[in-house]
Amino acid sequence: MRDTVPATPLLQGRSRLTLAVLLAGLWACAEPPAPAPPVQAGNVSDARLRAAGEDTANWLSHGRTYAEQRYSPLAQIDAENVSELGLAWSADLQTMRGVQATPIVVDGSMYVAAPWSVVHALDAATGEELWRYDPQVPKTHSRFACCSVASRGVAVHDGRVFVGTLDGRLVALDAADGTPVWETLTVDPSQPYSITGAARVVKGLVIIGNGGAEYGVRGYVSAYRSEDGTLAWRTYTVPGDPSLPFESPAMEKAAETWNGEWWRYGGGGTVWDALAYDPELDLLYVGTGNGSPHARWARSPGGGDNLYLASILALRPDTGEQVWHFQTTPADTWDYTATQHIMLADLEIDGRMRKVVMQAPKNGFFFVLDRETGEFISGAPFSKMNWALGLDADGRPIESEYGDYRTETRMIYPSQIGGHNWHPMSFHPNTGLVYIPTLEIGMPMGYDEEWVHQPGRWNLAVSFDGYASGGNVALGYLQAWDPVTQRPVWRVDHVAAWNGGTLATAHNLLFQGSADGRLVAYRADDGEMLWETPAGTGVMAGPVTYTVDGQQYVAVAAGWGGSFPMGMGSMAAQARVRGGGRVLAYRLGGDAELPPGLPWPGPPPMPSFALEASQADVDEGSRLYHLECGVCHGGEVVGGGSVHDLRYSGEAVHERFQAIVRGGERAQLGMPAFGEILSEEEARQVQAYVLFAARQAATQDATP
Ligand code: HEC
Repeated sequence: MRDTVPATPLLQGRSRLTLAVLLAGLWACAEPPAPAPPVQAGNVSDARLRAAGEDTANWLSHGRTYAEQRYSPLAQIDAENVSELGLAWSADLQTMRGVQATPIVVDGSMYVAAPWSVVHALDAATGEELWRYDPQVPKTHSRFACCSVASRGVAVHDGRVFVGTLDGRLVALDAADGTPVWETLTVDPSQPYSITGAARVVKGLVIIGNGGAEYGVRGYVSAYRSEDGTLAWRTYTVPGDPSLPFESPAMEKAAETWNGEWWRYGGGGTVWDALAYDPELDLLYVGTGNGSPHARWARSPGGGDNLYLASILALRPDTGEQVWHFQTTPADTWDYTATQHIMLADLEIDGRMRKVVMQAPKNGFFFVLDRETGEFISGAPFSKMNWALGLDADGRPIESEYGDYRTETRMIYPSQIGGHNWHPMSFHPNTGLVYIPTLEIGMPMGYDEEWVHQPGRWNLAVSFDGYASGGNVALGYLQAWDPVTQRPVWRVDHVAAWNGGTLATAHNLLFQGSADGRLVAYRADDGEMLWETPAGTGVMAGPVTYTVDGQQYVAVAAGWGGSFPMGMGSMAAQARVRGGGRVLAYRLGGDAELPPGLPWPGPPPMPSFALEASQADVDEGSRLYHLECGVCHGGEVVGGGSVHDLRYSGEAVHERFQAIVRGGERAQLGMPAFGEILSEEEARQVQAYVLFAARQAATQDATP
């Protein structure tokens, strides 16, 4: 821990210093620095969290403040001098998997979560490691992490750092040295739950959700007491077995909108990311996920809206009691979660100030709701869509006929990874604009009528045949959206999809990382690019800004990976970046050296390994591969730069194929064992298909 204030802010010959720095510098020259009282690590009280907006030196919670606007009034770095930003330090997160975390910065210390829920505490001025905590998540749990083994970050409160682990624990660490203080299991370990979201602390309660709806679970959000980890409340998002008593009136009401035997499959509605809090209204806003299974005809065969899937719920933070709900996608059947970033703001709409909640969920509509009542104010499409024709007067999407994929496979926009995913938005109070990392990708969807629930396996009731091919192009762009007029104001097209979260700062600045491996600063009002720098890997997470000893830093946790690069490798390969997690921190005049990224490989070599196989073997291998392997190794065996591209696997790997795939030989490295899922013959068919794809790539030079 830093416990003294070091001497002078760094002045090294910058030409355009802001007045603030200059004065700080003069002060430092005039008077030797007095030793400051020791800073208590993680000293974040409720009062401090409520006043986080004025606490410009720090980034105290996931979205900087409870309102989650990701706006900082810091102005030392401005549109004039941003071109002088340089790397101050970097810290290796020692991972090849996707990094999604927002760092939390408290009084000169940074806390950031790497994949497998490993927490790194760093000196925020130097990047020096203060401590590291590895919760030892069993690597076999990667099988239940649909979208990689990522963590979106930690929460800090009262001297403790809270991390939700991939295998469903909530752990409280001593912020000073990383030793665990308490740990509690937040899930039924016999169910395929996972935690990737960042906790928030509200009134001394640590709020945490979970994921798992792709495998079959029932969603909920829990609140644990910060001091001892005891459960204060748990609120389910979808009804359970209706023959048992309902947990709440809200669940009883929800059950009227379901039918069939959904509770046997879980139902879904997991709370895997978005949380926000309004201290004034004392409401906690929670985003809920997609249905489990995805296809509604399998989940709730008699119809119904299936509350509270794909909804924003307003809860009382003391009890978890529901106050209102708004369902963004009634009867979801396209994997349209409403777990995307929930942001609060006060906007003048039609001549009166409205307290609103804003969201750009996967379904492609930007929603503005009254956050006191849940009343729909306005909404409009922010990304290409064909599943809906628009919104009715109550904000309910009007489904198109095309969106019904029961009779034939349909290319649905937005895709399952959404018009916008977990990548955080930001709001600039001066421009009044919301900055959305937007996705425009289609996805062929077909109804799998033969689906039967298999506990602990993929349970979608959807087939995605041909999802990597057919000229499907993935677009990604940064979009400045006016939430009052519900119109785009400007947009910047990116090289590839799956670009980073955004950060708005005073003096008209906007920061965003890019899929193709850069951190970029834009002018917030018109999108003009002002500065860019290479990051050595794709940048997906949201940047933060803070000061230490008067020096402003902009930092981001970089590292390519996650559902898009894993599952949609051929599209993700447009970015031509590979994994390699690191935290990068920038300041004016910074001149640290960027650690090199991994180079993009040349075309796959012709495989030397031979396997006797018929065309029927290859076809069956393709089917099994896309069912069990494609989600991590990429559709059509094209890797997207994150998990191994199997077309490059050499003879030694192919000789050990059965041992690796069925025997769990690489289980400790995150490659699950499929011994109970695939027979030896089936694994051989998968291998035949992998070799077929590798040969095809080598002869056609088919790498994008
Ligand atoms: C949950 C994600 C995930 C799934 C699903 C998955 N893998 Fe893997 N696989 C990995 C990871 C991570 C590695 C890298 C392990 C390492 O570092 O060696 C890997 C490595 C491998 C390797 C070694 C590659 C090499 O060149 O070293 C083979 C072969 C392999 N996987 C085959 C398969 C097959 C076949 C399937 C489907 C039956 C499959 N995998 C499903 C994550 C996954």
